[in-house]
Amino acid sequence: MASNRGQFNTRIGFILAAAGSAVGLGNIWKFPFEVGQGGGAAFVVLYLAFCFLLCFPVMISEIAIGRKTQLNPVGAFKKLGHGNWSIIGLLGIIAGVLILSFYNVVAGWAFGYFLEMVQGNFGVGKEFGTFITDWQKIGMYGIVFMAVTAFIVSKGIAGGIEKASKILMPTLFTLILLLIGYALTLDGAMEGIKFYLVPDFSEINGDVIYSALGQAFFSLSLGMGALITYGSYVSKKQNIVRSAALITLTDVSIAFLAGLMIFPFVAYLTQGSMEGVEGGAGLIFATLPGVFESLGATLGMVIGALFFLLLSFAALTSTVSLLEVPVAYLVDEKKIKRPYAVWGMAAFIFLLGIPSMLSNGNVEALTNFVTLGGSDKATNFMDFIGLVASDTFLPIGGALISIFVAYVWKTNNLNEEIAIGRENAIPFVTKYINFAVMFICPVILGAIGIITILDRYFGIDVLSKLF
Ligand code: TRP
Repeated sequence: MASNRGQFNTRIGFILAAAGSAVGLGNIWKFPFEVGQGGGAAFVVLYLAFCFLLCFPVMISEIAIGRKTQLNPVGAFKKLGHGNWSIIGLLGIIAGVLILSFYNVVAGWAFGYFLEMVQGNFGVGKEFGTFITDWQKIGMYGIVFMAVTAFIVSKGIAGGIEKASKILMPTLFTLILLLIGYALTLDGAMEGIKFYLVPDFSEINGDVIYSALGQAFFSLSLGMGALITYGSYVSKKQNIVRSAALITLTDVSIAFLAGLMIFPFVAYLTQGSMEGVEGGAGLIFATLPGVFESLGATLGMVIGALFFLLLSFAALTSTVSLLEVPVAYLVDEKKIKRPYAVWGMAAFIFLLGIPSMLSNGNVEALTNFVTLGGSDKATNFMDFIGLVASDTFLPIGGALISIFVAYVWKTNNLNEEIAIGRENAIPFVTKYINFAVMFICPVILGAIGIITILDRYFGIDVLSKLF
């Protein structure tokens, strides 16, 4: 029965949990370096537009499917009477399991960095490359992170996920504001802000558009049924449209704030030149410890530890949502008791993550795993899983979800569900949502999936031909 599955107790509890799912490494680790690589503010503008115009309607669709059926992503499609479409749910669950397998590794790094900062070991930044190959340490951190995630999920919806989100999200928000306040007082902060906020639209090209789209979608936790699952714990009193707007707003705000914090740090370290800002994955792990070091031992330790604690908290509410999806499936469909489903899945996903963990220099075959897309540079195993699960499965999942809602379940059913609990509806918003799920989302998301396959797997450079 629905009541046995659990429910969010409060409106704000659901919003915080879903925003917690959205706000993660994607916002604080990936967003700033994508901004760095995508030429700064122009990327930010695109990202914002995609979040609201393209992702918001998909988010509403997912939550509506979940709340209507009160089931996991596989059960949901069956219950709506379209069992064949439950393949979307199954693909989503597989994608989620794969994403969590490597996401947990990076979350473990963040947690490990927190411990290093507490001990005042700023040198870890310069040794980032070595740090991530120290498999005993990294393995420990990965186990700890997965165990904490599993502990929260094992406590269920209200007592676990909601409660943790209600503590972690406000803490995260406070930490980020504190750090921004501090970052803005540093020398050269304004250079960083300028790089971040003054758009140079000549930087926009096919690649930038593609990565802004992918980032928006990943950042909002869409395309794999995470929000179908969370939606299934939402009461009929809740206003789905308003909740989705708040979740989107929180997610983009935190990403935006993460940039406000990080670019002044980088500007301070590089004395305004912003050199190396496009350095990718290393931006946070390799660069920031140097910033913290220059603040002096005590202050550096405090600011550094707070920063990596913030990053760990952000990751934790996301790993929780990623684990909840397969767990909900096992509980609803396979009638497995929650604690067994949780700990069994967590152990399985941790093991699945071991090759990713060892693919940064430990095992040659995993480090140079495949050469794809006509490039002569090999991709490591971790990036390969990211390519398959998040860059390929998520947009295709999102396209299929919108096609399902628009043409199989039909928009009048969607509208009926989102009308429940919705006061003061703005008719234009409903019209836009319908239009988007019928035309914009399937076409654009389907196109990203196809472009990913052509470009990244086969090296056919469609992007530069399109733009
Ligand atoms: N959105 C999270 C981030 O930005 C990651 C995440 C959590 C996710 N759950 C998800 C991504 C589900 C895709 C699907 O870090």
